Amino acid sequence: MQGSPEGREGGEDVAASWWRDGVVYQIYPRSYADSDGDGIGDLRGITARLDHLEWLGVDGIWLNPTMPSPNEDWGYDVADYCAVHPELGTLEDLDALIAEAGRRGMRVLLDLVPNHTSDRHAWFQDALGGHTARHREFYVWADPKPDCSPPNNWLSSFGGPAWTLDEASGQFFLHNFLPTQPDLNWWNEEVRESFDDILRFWFERGIAGFRIDVTHGIVKDRELRDDPAATPDDHPVIQARGQKQVFSMNRPEVHDVLRRWRAIAEADDPKRILVGETYVLDLDQLMPFYGEGEDELNLAFNFLFVHAELDAEALREIVEGVEERLPPTSWPVWTGSNHDAGRLATRWAGGDPARARLAVLMLMCLRGTPFLYYGDEIGLPDTPLDPADALDPVPRRTGKAERNRDPCRTPMHWTAEPGAGFTEPGAEPWLPLGDAAAHNVADQREDPGSPLHLTRDLIALRRARPDLRAGRYETLPAPPGAWAWRRGDGHAVALNLSGSEVTVDGLRGRVAIATDRARDGEAVEGALTLGPWQGAVVELDG
Ligand code: GLC
Ligand code: MG
Repeated sequence: MQGSPEGREGGEDVAASWWRDGVVYQIYPRSYADSDGDGIGDLRGITARLDHLEWLGVDGIWLNPTMPSPNEDWGYDVADYCAVHPELGTLEDLDALIAEAGRRGMRVLLDLVPNHTSDRHAWFQDALGGHTARHREFYVWADPKPDCSPPNNWLSSFGGPAWTLDEASGQFFLHNFLPTQPDLNWWNEEVRESFDDILRFWFERGIAGFRIDVTHGIVKDRELRDDPAATPDDHPVIQARGQKQVFSMNRPEVHDVLRRWRAIAEADDPKRILVGETYVLDLDQLMPFYGEGEDELNLAFNFLFVHAELDAEALREIVEGVEERLPPTSWPVWTGSNHDAGRLATRWAGGDPARARLAVLMLMCLRGTPFLYYGDEIGLPDTPLDPADALDPVPRRTGKAERNRDPCRTPMHWTAEPGAGFTEPGAEPWLPLGDAAAHNVADQREDPGSPLHLTRDLIALRRARPDLRAGRYETLPAPPGAWAWRRGDGHAVALNLSGSEVTVDGLRGRVAIATDRARDGEAVEGALTLGPWQGAVVELDG
């Protein structure tokens, strides 16, 4: 399944470096391409669209959950870890996707959800049998307080208490998300062994690794102590929750589990990789997830960056913070979009095409692995939807319409035709299509000035220039509202993250790619002037 990994300078482990040099593309399988006209994207649909991904030049694909699930949380409630959701296809379809992607030099990452199962999982169904059930201790159970209230103050991330009473046994079970997503008990060695087997099962089928859901959260405080209240110093996301999840999640013992998984991933040839959803909003908490000397996650998503505004100072500070803290053997990862946070064109760009182009250029030129979310390459915005119709349970449970994640999970736009090339004309897509005429792959393929060509050309530039893949990062002087940095010896990147013209001094060379494509190839003689929300990669004079 290996393509031909390109070499890196610096004597790193070349065979395992595809994920450092490459670009990863996240696919929400229900929304990418529907091969059988049932309105639901599926694995065969993805395989049929690999031409697009090969043309785009991505090196890896992360698939959101593909396992059987009652879909209370759209696949993040897993009912069987070693099978494929029938709506998405079969194990054979997944094998075919992995093989076909591999032939084209692309690796496939699956989504692993170890924090919780579906309540329909056989383990939980058995656990409901009572105190002596074989799988009782696979989950986190606790007695009520004397006044019959839940065992502690922990809150579900999806609203309400994190505990639900099982009337039959008189005990509460823990769920940091939906009540239909009971948390697993990672203090139980049998849970750990079961997941060792799950990892090996999928590695044997040829996947390149996993994106691991809620990595930071799987181990809970053994004594189930109360979470403390948030304080005004906490990140706004933590303040909105009202509590710091220091006991319900984020326990130091998670690192034992990560070391165990990394050892399994490294035992395979080629080595498999682990990418963590490490939802901590503090860089000092993020770094330990890489372990010591590369023995935990290969890549740990940076949610401080995901949640930052598209603002020069805010983003620069986070990048500098990572550059300062990350050990030399570890590797950053950058993304601004996903199936929870929204698409680049909306989340960061607020619908402004210039900002969306700038965001893609930034991601492709930082030191680290960029992750794009499907549709980012065509500047696809979130689809405005009525929260009253949400399929996502979160807005309903929290009463917060803005937490509806359906708008960023709508189908991909391949063409302007009925069905958008996603499904057959006339078929009812599982989520509304939105306006496929505004942004679609077919039209943008014909337009060299399109976001699609910009994304492809940036990926190709990154592949062609060792500086852009592996070169060191160094902040360069830039006026307020702008951000400039050098990559390696031969390249600089300048972004104007403001609505006024700026001039970045001290650059001499030639524009390799600018967000305004008319400027590609322009000579830079000491200063680069950028219009509002413009950016450029400059090849510096040697
Ligand atoms: C992660 C997923 C999100 C899911 C949650 C619970 O945050 O990204 O989509 O709802 O975990 O599994
Ligand atoms: Mg289908």
